[in-house]
Amino acid sequence: MASGNGSNFEAIVQAINTGRLGAEIPLLVVNNKNCGAQQRADRFGIHLEVVDHRSYPNREALDRQLVSLFQSHQVDVVVMAGWMRIVTDVLVKAFPERLVNIHPSLLPSFRGLDAVGQALKAGVSISGCTVHIVTTELDAGPILAQAAVPVFATDNHDSLAKRVQQQEHVLLPATLQQNAHRWRQG
Ligand code: GRF
Repeated sequence: MASGNGSNFEAIVQAINTGRLGAEIPLLVVNNKNCGAQQRADRFGIHLEVVDHRSYPNREALDRQLVSLFQSHQVDVVVMAGWMRIVTDVLVKAFPERLVNIHPSLLPSFRGLDAVGQALKAGVSISGCTVHIVTTELDAGPILAQAAVPVFATDNHDSLAKRVQQQEHVLLPATLQQNAHRWRQG
């Protein structure tokens, strides 16, 4: 699942293509038509579904549609690779322990929106990224893995976000691979 640029989605695709991650991607879901992630899916020939949150009366209805799509594609694990929507227990309960998110801070610090901005504002000298299991409490589920990133006095939002993302692109596929045995069916 992705909402924007899709660089983490591409990192997963590249990890699969280079043999670092034993997985298949049956589909990518985006909520913003023509976002960067969609263009990347087109480029890699990955099946795409646009599920626009604006077409649903509430979060639960959106999540019901997502669950139905994932089940019809026999999905084992759902990765929120920059899915910028709050999910409900409809999705969480359909994929218990199988819904994974990447967040651009060292959780439990800086939950929610603009974690990079929050870290800069707080003046921390180390930030990073976290891969965690999603629960209904925002950015608070069990942590699977983290990577630390230094924050320099000269950093601005762009420079820190870029450094964090470089680590995300390594951490997310590696964490999926490390946990794959838990998620394999049969
Ligand atoms: C990443 O920084 C991720 O931590 C956050 O959303 C961003 C998505 O970036 N959840 P991209 O679309 O993968 O480039």
